[in-house]
Amino acid sequence: MARRKQIYEGKAKVIFEGPEPGTLVQYFKDDATAFNNKKKGTITGKGVLNNRISEYLMMKLEEIGIPTHFVRRLNMREQLVKEVEIIPVEVVVRNIAAGSISERFAIPEGTRLPRSIVEYYYKNDQLGDPLISEEHITGFGWAAIHEVDEMLNMALRVNDYLSGMFLGIGIKLVDFKVEFGRLFHENGDIQVILADELSPDNCRLWDAKTNEKMDKDRFRRDMGGVEEAYQEVARRLGILPESGPADQQGPSTLQ
Ligand code: TMP
Ligand code: ASP
Repeated sequence: MARRKQIYEGKAKVIFEGPEPGTLVQYFKDDATAFNNKKKGTITGKGVLNNRISEYLMMKLEEIGIPTHFVRRLNMREQLVKEVEIIPVEVVVRNIAAGSISERFAIPEGTRLPRSIVEYYYKNDQLGDPLISEEHITGFGWAAIHEVDEMLNMALRVNDYLSGMFLGIGIKLVDFKVEFGRLFHENGDIQVILADELSPDNCRLWDAKTNEKMDKDRFRRDMGGVEEAYQEVARRLGILPESGPADQQGPSTLQ
């Protein structure tokens, strides 16, 4: 296959030029990092599973009217997405205390929060993605006030929808992180849409009965069974690749 131009390499994904203007190819790696790159490893088959899981969740969100960058899956590890300008703000929604909020406010992990809490982090590896407020976002010009409103509203709708969907398959959506991008329409309109990925890399998912972790915390905390946990999420969603998680080079549908 002809080598496409690489546009960007992140910790878990590579972005290539797309086959037509305004598109990009998002390639999911098996690489995993945590604690701002201090911990590195690979999770065999993760890229294949996250490609599927993110596709599935983004398509479901499109169905309820949330615009996303997802266009179509190309093969086991790649999906075609719309080219957007990523807004450098990570939007985290939390339903149950875990991770950094538990540490910051000394709330035992597993405590249900009084209501869903939204946080913003500045997407900047050198600074370790610091927690920020709306004032920083608008003051430093990372996004306009109406864009912050749109991100907040979409993040809350994503939370409501995904919380219900996961509960239906016996999983608690503890928290998650989403990113948004600006889509530049030909008529000059600029639309904020959901971008990046939605997978167990950026959600906390706990079994509803046992509270067993089914997400990247298993890697962060050296708990083992990481691949199996991601596979189980895919299995419950009904999207485990037919051939299993094996990384077979499926037929490429790139035109
Ligand atoms: P935190 O508790 O570490 O702040 O994480 C909150 C949620 O955001 C959790 O679901 C993991 C996700 N997350 C990312 O996707 N990327 C990151 O860089 C961090 C720190 C968290
Ligand atoms: N992905 C982030 C990093 O490498 C953090 C995390 O997900 O824990 O560093």
